[in-house]
Amino acid sequence: MTTLISGGKVISATGADLADVLVDGEKIVAVLQPGSDIAKSAAESAEIIDATGKYVIPGGVDVHTHMETDVGPTVSSDTFESGTTAAAWGGTTTIVDFATQGFGEQVRESLDATMARAEGNCAIDFGVHMVIGDVNETSLSEMDKLVDEGISSFKLFMAYPGRLLSDDRQILLAMQQCAGNGGMIMMHAENGIAIDLLAEQAVARGETDPVNHGYVRREALESEATFRAIKLAEVGAAPLYIVHLSSSGALEQVSRARHDGANVFAETCPQYLYLSLEDHLGAPGFEGAKYVCSTPLRSKHEHHHRDLWNGLRTNALSVIATDHCPFCMNDQKDLGVDDFRSIPNGIGGVEHRIDLIYQGVVTGEISLSRWVELCATTPARMFGMYPQKGTIQPGADADIVLYDPNATTTISADTHHMNMDYSAYEGITIDGKVETVMSRGTVIVSNDTFHGSASHGRYIRRGLSQYLN
Ligand code: URP
Ligand code: ZN
Ligand code: ZN
Repeated sequence: MTTLISGGKVISATGADLADVLVDGEKIVAVLQPGSDIAKSAAESAEIIDATGKYVIPGGVDVHTHMETDVGPTVSSDTFESGTTAAAWGGTTTIVDFATQGFGEQVRESLDATMARAEGNCAIDFGVHMVIGDVNETSLSEMDKLVDEGISSFKLFMAYPGRLLSDDRQILLAMQQCAGNGGMIMMHAENGIAIDLLAEQAVARGETDPVNHGYVRREALESEATFRAIKLAEVGAAPLYIVHLSSSGALEQVSRARHDGANVFAETCPQYLYLSLEDHLGAPGFEGAKYVCSTPLRSKHEHHHRDLWNGLRTNALSVIATDHCPFCMNDQKDLGVDDFRSIPNGIGGVEHRIDLIYQGVVTGEISLSRWVELCATTPARMFGMYPQKGTIQPGADADIVLYDPNATTTISADTHHMNMDYSAYEGITIDGKVETVMSRGTVIVSNDTFHGSASHGRYIRRGLSQYLN
């Protein structure tokens, strides 16, 4: 069956043009000049989707999500089914989630458990990164095998001692392994040993409210870890991708490394562009728990928001991901009502990334093309899925979003589709609306209705990062 998406403005990472997009089965087969003979003849036999007045963009690629992830005392509240359905509502058609090898666990067992949860339960296509929480001989050799199986990126933690933290020796070993197998190291760059000491001291002083999470996770401890990771990557001769970068200081480290020619990249997330330590993490009572995530929200008085938008525009920051890690207030965030250290870390937002970053286009921070590049094209490239994903071109999967720039969206827990009893962006009304979402040629969202199913999404065996391509 063929479908012609007609009359819309097709946005790519390099430009925007009125064009018709011809889809056959699961693939894009042509991008046609409107009114051309070939477009007219395609229109005769195809089903037509009228995209007049709409932006036609590649389906979003969110390379940092945590669905039904066990964090010890609780499990993140979106299942693969609910989280990928919410992603689809928000115009994201691919996620890359994480399988986690904790300290003392086997990589293979952790991966198999994640695959069992995900396969057959995703509304959109999905890939997997592997968290290596215990770098040892076995996990290092597993990394080589995983690259061959389509898991070409490995997250390490400089935080969470005793649970996930890798010391410098382990980090360097993992980087050397990636220098050999072509994998990408993703780094949670915070000095967890120093943070845990500051947290212990804060609690001893009776400072137990959620805002203290932000006070003890000092910006200097993010920039120090970012710098250390960059230098270790230089020595290990591996590419490095810093996840959930939140502060000006860490950004400066990444900018400098990139300026010096290093293969260092970073993502930031909408929460670091819109939410702050004072207004959100510091909200009265226990409200701040809604906004506990790591790295933490930063002070609105220190120009982090402005610097991060600048970084997005100038390519110091390459990717927007959500770090979607949702928990409900009830029975989950409230585990830390007496001690901020027990609040599960994470914010849900997989549904709102495309809309929230589009606001940067509205306010002139970034261009339309940069919006698409940050939310779809570069994440697909960075994690070895391009040109199957992240682009509208012949041969690509027909993952396509029709975006209405003239409509508005109001974000609320009453209407969102994530399994969360609150929204971090409650009440925000934004310009633009995801109108129609196609995943591999099937319309899964249109007319404010979800038409997809949890058996639709397929596992993506990823290639090596294409950051140099
Ligand atoms: O607070 C966060 N970010 N939770 C998810 C786990 C991680 O470190 O990315
Ligand atoms: Zn992290
Ligand atoms: Zn994360």
